[in-house]
Amino acid sequence: MQEYADCFRVRGKKIAFVPTMGFFHEGHLSLMRKARDLADELVISIFVNPLQFAPTEDLSSYPRDTKSDLAFAEQTGVDIVFMPEADSLYPGAFQTRVSLDQLPRHLCGINRPQLFNGVTTVVSKLFNIVKPHVAVFGEKDFQQLLIIRQMVNDLNIDVKIESAPTARDPDGLAMSSRNSYLTADQRENALAVYRSLQNAKDLLEKGVRDSTVIIDEAKKIILSYPGNTVDYIEICDVETLDDVNMIDKPVLMAVAAFVGKVRLIDNMVLVPDKQK
Ligand code: PAF
Repeated sequence: MQEYADCFRVRGKKIAFVPTMGFFHEGHLSLMRKARDLADELVISIFVNPLQFAPTEDLSSYPRDTKSDLAFAEQTGVDIVFMPEADSLYPGAFQTRVSLDQLPRHLCGINRPQLFNGVTTVVSKLFNIVKPHVAVFGEKDFQQLLIIRQMVNDLNIDVKIESAPTARDPDGLAMSSRNSYLTADQRENALAVYRSLQNAKDLLEKGVRDSTVIIDEAKKIILSYPGNTVDYIEICDVETLDDVNMIDKPVLMAVAAFVGKVRLIDNMVLVPDKQK
């Protein structure tokens, strides 16, 4: 892969990169389409990164379908699909970690402390291997996007980070590879997550500015469906992820909920009226 990247660069070609864990849905494809328009050569990676899963999490059952992924990649104009083996990315002697101090202490990092170290370590490695000029990440993983931007700034990594909006099913459910774990009933219950965000937007439009009130309402909506539990609901600063109590500027509302045993995340940037 590094040799391909060097060849592209020597020939003056611009490389765009979309790192993924596979099992493609429209969300992945929208990242690839955006990346394809930004460069000459489009490289994607498919790698279910063991470093970002805790021993209790779904590494072994994480959905995989390489044949279908490769067909989608081809249709979407991908030039190279990089699919490393775990042993080659993390040989026995591997001991380096890339980690950030502050941003991972919020939201998903609280109950999944290994997650972002795993993400930043693998993304650094992939950047060094693929040598992209630009990389595209989804806004559904908003915290991941902020963390990657911060890492790239902090370490002077010469890759431009672009983002693309969350792809949703027609009824609003954010697309996720983990949606494939949901039964038909759970699929209905999962909609509560999007409804809780929509309701927050409505409340803000009606003039409610107190985050506690909006979060309580969101909690009620999610818990009103059988089998749902809340991991977190936060209203926070769009750059630092620190809590915001009174909404007087654009904020991030981020939700993580369990639908049965399936953990889903979603978010929305809420913009108070005078800021629009
Ligand atoms: O968002 C993902 O799918 C993963 O976290 C990423 C960026 C591919 C790193 O493993």
